[in-house]
Amino acid sequence: MTFDPNIYRQRRVRLLEKMQRGIAVIPTAEEVARNGDTHYVYRHDSSFYYLTGFAEPEAVLVLVAGRSDDSPPQSLLFCREKNPEREIWDGYRTGPDAAREQFGFDAAWPIAQLDEKLTELLGNQPALFYPIGGDAAWDQRILKLRGAVQAKVRSGIRAPDEIRDVRALLHEMRLIKDAHELGIMRRAAAVSAQAHRRAMRFTRPGQFEYEVEAELLHEFCRHGSRHPAYPSIVAGGANACVLHYVGNNAQLKEGDLLLIDAGCEVEGYAADITRTFPVNGKFSAAQKDLYEIVLAAQSAAIAAASPGQTWDAPHNAALRVLAQGFVDLKLCLGSVDGVLENESYKKYYMHRTSHWLGMDVHDVGDYKVDDNWRTLQPGMTLTVEPGCYIRPADDVPQAFWNIGIRIEDDVAITAQGNEVLSSAVPKKIGEIEELASA
Ligand code: GLY
Ligand code: MN
Ligand code: MN
Repeated sequence: MTFDPNIYRQRRVRLLEKMQRGIAVIPTAEEVARNGDTHYVYRHDSSFYYLTGFAEPEAVLVLVAGRSDDSPPQSLLFCREKNPEREIWDGYRTGPDAAREQFGFDAAWPIAQLDEKLTELLGNQPALFYPIGGDAAWDQRILKLRGAVQAKVRSGIRAPDEIRDVRALLHEMRLIKDAHELGIMRRAAAVSAQAHRRAMRFTRPGQFEYEVEAELLHEFCRHGSRHPAYPSIVAGGANACVLHYVGNNAQLKEGDLLLIDAGCEVEGYAADITRTFPVNGKFSAAQKDLYEIVLAAQSAAIAAASPGQTWDAPHNAALRVLAQGFVDLKLCLGSVDGVLENESYKKYYMHRTSHWLGMDVHDVGDYKVDDNWRTLQPGMTLTVEPGCYIRPADDVPQAFWNIGIRIEDDVAITAQGNEVLSSAVPKKIGEIEELASA
């Protein structure tokens, strides 16, 4: 896709409007050493990228909301300079001049000039917005810079009185996805869906979990998504009852289920999809019983994910169906209301049903406003991912032991209801059995 700097420029303008006054300093992420001379694959800071579209390390965005003398708002970038020697070793650097032009900044300077320029720019600004506490080294640097401005007080220059967390404004913006973002998220979900379908077709008893993982990664990569949005969970049998299992090194057994929680990242946006299917292509009776309950819980939760509903509506809808199912199978005792009241369902379902999804797999945005669950609005995107995880216990019929099931889809709230971005992966028993035994 061609890069359109206006998308990012408009976001900067909106943030500047929300700030009203003062200056914002928003650094991208640092490179992180893995060992020796190698680094983990570089990943920009999501909010920095949201405002710039600029993916190189060692960059800082500075927004100046205007001064008392009516100077216009400004959007400034500090980035790595061109460096022919380093570019031979590490690759292309945009450099300030090209960055200003291509990305639509008012000015751009070498990152080495950041402290000196900021000391000037901070002078007589009433407020400084930055991600307070996001990084200890940055906290120190910012305070030091503010101190340097304070030292100029006898020249009539004041340091900002107010330091505010820019994330409070930014996260509210990121919570509502625009059409450009939803387009990318549809692609991330579509590629991830193809990977899940490939894994279902590929899986056979005797394979190792990492072999299935390799199929997922292959499918991500061949569609241009070089990285998963989070470490893939490929969990056969009892491993599916470990919620964050990432060992992925066990052999898949005849008669077990395989839970795959995997999604790729496309242009900085995550997909997050889970499917659970039989390793040999055929659900057992006990697996079927539990699977149908989780699937019904997921359908009820998706139906409750619509504009005007509150954040906890999908979770509550899922819980009621799960509680009914656990009572019917005698996994929980008493009435459905009683099980919901005393939370005995938590023995088998201990996580919540949804989280925001976006640039971060667990995306930003408050879940409560003024102590009340947030109301869902068009443009919000969330996962819907009920499950059940049954560990061996004396009071649990043996047929259910070590069954872990989760079904997770990515859902965008629309004006009419919702759009399930990840619907291309089968989840009905008949469809799964057809694909998994193909
Ligand atoms: N894959 C992480 C989650 O489902 O929240
Ligand atoms: Mn997931
Ligand atoms: Mn999730």
